[in-house]
Amino acid sequence: MRTYVTLIIFLSILLVIFTNYTSITYYSSLPSLNPSLNSLQTVPQINTESKKSSTLLTVSNPNLSTVTYTISLTSCSSSPTLKHDSSLIGLIDGSLILRHSILTHSPTPPNFIAFIHTTAKDTPCHLELERGGWECKVVDTPLKVSDIKTDNIRRNIEKNGCCGDKELIKLYAYTLTTSDVVIMLDLDVLLLRPLTSLINSISISPEGTASYTEDWGMVNPGKKPGAQGGFIVIKPSLRVFNELIDIVLNTPFNEKNLPGWNGSGIGPFWGAMTVQGLIPYYYQEVKGAAVEVLNRCMYNNMRDNPKVKNGEECRGPVKGVMECEDCREKKVEDIYSTHFTLCQKPWGCQLNGKPWCTVLHDEWFYTREKMEVAVLGGDFTGKGMRGYCKKGGKEGYERVSDDVRSMINK
Ligand SMILES: *[C@@H]1O[C@H](CO)[C@@H](O)[C@H](O)[C@H]1NC(C)=O
Ligand SMILES: *[C@@H]1O[C@H](CO)[C@@H](O)[C@H](O)[C@H]1NC(C)=O
Repeated sequence: MRTYVTLIIFLSILLVIFTNYTSITYYSSLPSLNPSLNSLQTVPQINTESKKSSTLLTVSNPNLSTVTYTISLTSCSSSPTLKHDSSLIGLIDGSLILRHSILTHSPTPPNFIAFIHTTAKDTPCHLELERGGWECKVVDTPLKVSDIKTDNIRRNIEKNGCCGDKELIKLYAYTLTTSDVVIMLDLDVLLLRPLTSLINSISISPEGTASYTEDWGMVNPGKKPGAQGGFIVIKPSLRVFNELIDIVLNTPFNEKNLPGWNGSGIGPFWGAMTVQGLIPYYYQEVKGAAVEVLNRCMYNNMRDNPKVKNGEECRGPVKGVMECEDCREKKVEDIYSTHFTLCQKPWGCQLNGKPWCTVLHDEWFYTREKMEVAVLGGDFTGKGMRGYCKKGGKEGYERVSDDVRSMINK
């Protein structure tokens, strides 16, 4: 949802800061996830309020983990139009096809939870998410802006990133402690492969453990990147939830010539005051729990150009790297999840898009067709985008019918 609203600003920022990308050594691949997680920082006993200490909530057979997928809705533009990426139609169809892609790649049906900000309660978006099989939890921002101690954040958080302080409702994912693994997604994400090894690794990890991809397109070469908000995998923990909120309430951001969160250099960038900056600050600087930065071409692939525009230098936290993986070249079968940001939304019906985007848009449309075949019967044709795009552009998009929507969660 956030990315719909912010895509235009996101793209303009990218145009300005099209600089470098990727040091492959920075990534870890899945097979090494378990050992490296174990060898990473262990959970310190910081918060005196946490009742239970950091007991390992392990499951004897990780294949039987309880997995929950979450999305969040901070506002709703209720007019059913495709004029904007954040339209109601995009939101509904995005959430249905995302959910179907998850079901397709899950051994047992997971939980689907949508956090709805109180200001979006009972809007058409809320009602359609509920009908589409997302269990909706109406929540308020987890803190009062007036309680924030440091001036810069208190004055600016409400207009930071796409959704301001409301973005923090994403963090309620940490409170879902009856799940072994929670996967926080955006609505413009598509799952392409089962996440088995990632889920198994997290499920046997200490509470609070996280895995996410970094968004190197948002910062200049050599600067610490934020977490990309479209794919964050966590082991839930009330303690970590409280500590994250505590950071927003008490930690300076970009004050007194100290860049980013408490001078860590994490921030400023788009959304740095909330989730995208808070998560890397917590895991890399406060060291509250183990973290694994995932390969951003395998997970949450956004088809980004790894290099500074017209340059040779790669983006990423290390300056002067010249060799890096190009996510535009990653084969579809090697991608676990994709996030439609730079590639635009599938429902924008880009008939002449970049080939590396078109193959992923087609995957989205195939998933949609499979979902409709599952509901309505009939044969899968694999007609892809053109079957659902009467012409190019958003006006050409044919939305998921009310018939299908009414039957999807039966
Ligand atoms: C979990 O599933 C994987 C893949 O299906 C299998 O190889 C593995 O043996 C299973 N583990 C357990 C503990 O059942
Ligand atoms: C900020 O960093 C300083 C120096 O590393 C540290 O002493 C202080 O506790 C930090 N403040 C917060 C609120 O984390």
